[in-house]
Amino acid sequence: MKNIVILISGRGSNMQALLEANLPCKIAAVISNRADAQGLEIARMHDIPTAVVAHRDYPDRASFDAALAAAIDRHAPDVIALAGFMRILTDHFVERYRGKLVNIHPSLLPAYPGIDTHERALSDGIKIHGCTVHFVTPTLDHGPIIIQAAVPVMRSDTPQTLSERVLHEEHRIYAQAIRWLCRGQVWLNKEGRVSGNRLEQPGAALIFPGLE
Ligand code: GRF
Repeated sequence: MKNIVILISGRGSNMQALLEANLPCKIAAVISNRADAQGLEIARMHDIPTAVVAHRDYPDRASFDAALAAAIDRHAPDVIALAGFMRILTDHFVERYRGKLVNIHPSLLPAYPGIDTHERALSDGIKIHGCTVHFVTPTLDHGPIIIQAAVPVMRSDTPQTLSERVLHEEHRIYAQAIRWLCRGQVWLNKEGRVSGNRLEQPGAALIFPGLE
């Protein structure tokens, strides 16, 4: 069975969704860069080993990343899932875990990389928004895409209501992506693209506002 390590910085709802998804892998540890991350308590309640590697304890990004890598490698993970992990990682770190490091991002990438995705989506007036699970590469929020979910944007939406709608889908697609990775049904190929041997299923188009 494959091992997975989850990295968090805060609330940990995506982490919780993974812990409760009955995944075909062993969740070996949850690691946070903040000792006060709420998600750590949730992990402990699920009897998952936790660790804190506090970025504030390190003089620069390279030394923090080295300490983080040491904490990760203790568990020899096959998959490392960033779940609301709010530190930008060095290229060296990202290359070291090529094909193993995945992230969930609250937009339909490549639209809206970075932060405040829901605010930016609302101010642009887009009608369809969503979330993405992707392999992590050195360019922030630009790695090869594994799965995406789209949601409608309502006229009455606030950043809060929109983020809740997107978050609900994040929890579903992240568990699905990790399941494929753990079963070896999806991988990053030598050309740096996503390969997979699962069947593509016909999906319904999301058109919003709907056609007459
Ligand atoms: C999620 O929206 C995730 O996509 C983004 O940060 C948020 C983290 O939420 N990267 P949580 O900590 O998983 O609840």
